[in-house]
Amino acid sequence: MSDATVRNTGGESFRKASDGSVDQGRRTWIAITCGAGAVGGAAVAVPFVSTFAPSERARAAGAPVQVDISALQPGEKITVEWRGKPVWIIRRTPEQLATLAKVEGELADPKSDRTAYPTPEYAKNQHRSIKPEFFVGVGICSHLGCSPSDRFQTGAQPSLPDNWMGGFLCPCHGSTFDLAGRVFKNKPAPDNLEVPPHMYVSDTTLLIGEDKQA
Ligand code: FES
Repeated sequence: MSDATVRNTGGESFRKASDGSVDQGRRTWIAITCGAGAVGGAAVAVPFVSTFAPSERARAAGAPVQVDISALQPGEKITVEWRGKPVWIIRRTPEQLATLAKVEGELADPKSDRTAYPTPEYAKNQHRSIKPEFFVGVGICSHLGCSPSDRFQTGAQPSLPDNWMGGFLCPCHGSTFDLAGRVFKNKPAPDNLEVPPHMYVSDTTLLIGEDKQA
């Protein structure tokens, strides 16, 4: 795994530093560099991975980002950069998926009908994703743009209700989101987290930023 990869198993975010130590509690996100690359118009075999790396200009302009998710374990999350935004990829456990139905009555927009951040048709479902197991969402709060923190642990804890089933807490003004990025009622954030255009180019490779075959 690249030392720039953010991986989370349910508690605080952490970054594995180049010296092997772990920087606990980081709330900032770091772009994944390993396995990410721009996708050109033609499917040409290129011998060096570095050839796929987009220029800074291409990345800023929104070049799609390819991500290898083969090592992502149930309950884990990684963050990649797309168009300068943190994009979360979470592999949800069966238990986590089961919470999505249980919290529906407490959500502001459970069916993702609001249009401020239109949810792609393929993610307009309870799990807000193509494959139920994998959630892909932009980690930016729809209130004032903070990046919510992981709160995967269930149960009572500071700033969360006693019946918390796992999700995200925005530290800025207390908005909460479920494990599909759906915002809870009566919170400052007006909308669910954005689901970016994305598609699978293989069972273990996601393309962020594009959802149609060229
Ligand atoms: S920015 Fe998230 S609650 Fe205000």
